[in-house]
Amino acid sequence: MRTVIMGAPGAGKGTQSVRLARSWKVPHVSTGELLREAVKLGSDLGRRVKETLASGRLVSDAMMVDLLRERLAHPDCRSGFVLDGYPRTLKQVEDLDALLASMGSALDATLLIEVPDDTLLHRLSGRRSCPSCQRVYHVDQIGRRDGAVCERCGTGLTVRDDDKESTVRRRLQVYHEQTRPVLDHYRRQGSLKTVDGRGTPDEVYDRLTSLAQMANG
Ligand code: AP5
Ligand code: MG
Repeated sequence: MRTVIMGAPGAGKGTQSVRLARSWKVPHVSTGELLREAVKLGSDLGRRVKETLASGRLVSDAMMVDLLRERLAHPDCRSGFVLDGYPRTLKQVEDLDALLASMGSALDATLLIEVPDDTLLHRLSGRRSCPSCQRVYHVDQIGRRDGAVCERCGTGLTVRDDDKESTVRRRLQVYHEQTRPVLDHYRRQGSLKTVDGRGTPDEVYDRLTSLAQMANG
């Protein structure tokens, strides 16, 4: 199962992709996580993208396709993946098609989680992430803004560098300007399936799994 999960910043792509990937026994490939990991490790790529990430703008298509090519070449992606955060531009749509074609495969489903902008702002301003296992929380769920630890691995939760309000607004603008055309492309192709991303994570998950089953006939 090769699935792309699309949606604005804060739509719940990460939250849902982790669960879908676990259920389908395929890896969760988040391009944002790959980039943040590179920054954390201080690799050459990490140094080059650090500022771009903090600004809320997109990393270049050329860097992104190299990163993705390397990740999809791992043996764990042979039976599929849940791809979260890619493609975000029309050039990335072309690059992904070409990459998959070169591996003798293609996408099985493209799922969009749709959430209004005011809800996105609330979700992102309260997000806390585990820097160790990447599990994502919200302050509403953990009942406190500071000092919480990951319930899975005990690491102190942190705020992502790009979650301050001005950067969140920039990320939403970038999404509307550069990623909407990608949604229009998949819609025209008839391959985009959309779910309402409001409601609890369980409700959204149920909608996504029903749609994915339909997409697979
Ligand atoms: P990326 O990491 O992909 O960030 P994003 O798209 O901005 O999305 P987020 O991770 O912020 O949100 P999400 O949809 O995963 O929501 P989450 O599940 O965490 O990209 C970061 C940056 O990397 C980009 O800005 C860019 O610079 C670069 N980049 C990445 N890919 C790129 C590409 N292809 N090309 C170029 N540059 C690229 O949920 C958010 C919060 O809401 C959490 O607190 C969660 O607990 C809560 N929540 C989730 N679901 C619900 C629900 N149903 N009800 C209530 N709360 C919920
Ligand atoms: Mg995410």
